[in-house]
Amino acid sequence: MSKLMEKVYSKAVALNKHIVLAEGEELRIINAAKIIAESKIASITLIGRKDVIEAKAGELGNIEIIDPATSEKTASYIELLYELRKAKGMTMEQAEKLVRNNPLYFGSLMVKAGDADGMVAGSISPTGDVLRPALQIIKTKPGVSTVSSCFVMSMPDNSVGTKYGQGGVLVFGDCAVNPNPTSEQLADIAVASADSAKKIADIEEPKVALLSFSTKGSAKHEFVDKVRKAAEIVKETHPELCCDGELQADAALVGSVGMLKAPGSNVAGKANVLIFPDLQSGNIGYKLVQRLAGAEAVGPICQGFARPVNDLSRGCSVEDVVGVVAMTALQCE
Ligand code: ACO
Repeated sequence: MSKLMEKVYSKAVALNKHIVLAEGEELRIINAAKIIAESKIASITLIGRKDVIEAKAGELGNIEIIDPATSEKTASYIELLYELRKAKGMTMEQAEKLVRNNPLYFGSLMVKAGDADGMVAGSISPTGDVLRPALQIIKTKPGVSTVSSCFVMSMPDNSVGTKYGQGGVLVFGDCAVNPNPTSEQLADIAVASADSAKKIADIEEPKVALLSFSTKGSAKHEFVDKVRKAAEIVKETHPELCCDGELQADAALVGSVGMLKAPGSNVAGKANVLIFPDLQSGNIGYKLVQRLAGAEAVGPICQGFARPVNDLSRGCSVEDVVGVVAMTALQCE
């Protein structure tokens, strides 16, 4: 286990948050729930049919199971969903169907109602299906208009890996949510990723690089203009944040290249938070670093929700689930 994850687990234990796992009948989720409960990383509620879960799980200890078909909360969640979405055309019948049949809606409503601190799902559901109910029900934090995501990347603990970021730890955003962010959305992603860097990656002073194929006007293109405008927005709205762009990845990460291409920048050569210009580059970028450099990639961690919701990869392992639950607990603060 990386040093970063050791810290994340011990912080989560101290916080003792309540996380709902919407895909409660999935074996990897059940096994992760047992580890989380035993190690006291969080209190867990599984959504699903009690008999099905118990048949797979054996002894469940103090893990709560909620079945939307029998829960005493179901009626109030149907009412809550209807109230939240009636202006968008949702009928009471549609609300009832979603709450009773779709655990991703039930879980989001638990979080909205304050019956859980956060939700994790996605082991058997695509990203869009996990995020859509949360976007509709939990919505964004006050002052934030974009939900986005980041990965915490832990480079291998060797002389190359530890040269980058804060001792080899970097945050990459957005690699999972917004296909083609505007400058305003990129600025939101930069600010949220800096916040995640502090909260969950233990990066004391985030240095945020808005990445492009150009450094400080070396190339001219509308894609570059979008990134440069995002950097200007961050500087205007968050002058306290150490953020610069547009920067190429080498100028952002390597001291000598940064000095050459962006002299005077307070980020170039020292970046520990990398913001990708769109989802294609972000998603490809994190997977390349994970596979080719052997970095540990924890995430995607969603940022910007009023209360934390996180999406798992469908290829996730039990260990991945435990890690994302611990990160979710840290976001509850
Ligand atoms: N931030 C804030 N609000 C948002 C966002 C956002 N990024 N996106 C949508 N919304 C809001 C909408 O305004 C809407 O609100 P309203 O209904 O109250 O008016 C609500 O959320 C639902 O919007 P939809 O248009 O129905 O949602 P959409 O179909 O756009 O889906 C989603 C949003 C799921 C995030 C979509 O953009 C998506 O699928 N993104 C890509 C996910 C993906 O496939 N990632 C790659 C795989 S992950 C991996 O490899 C790690």
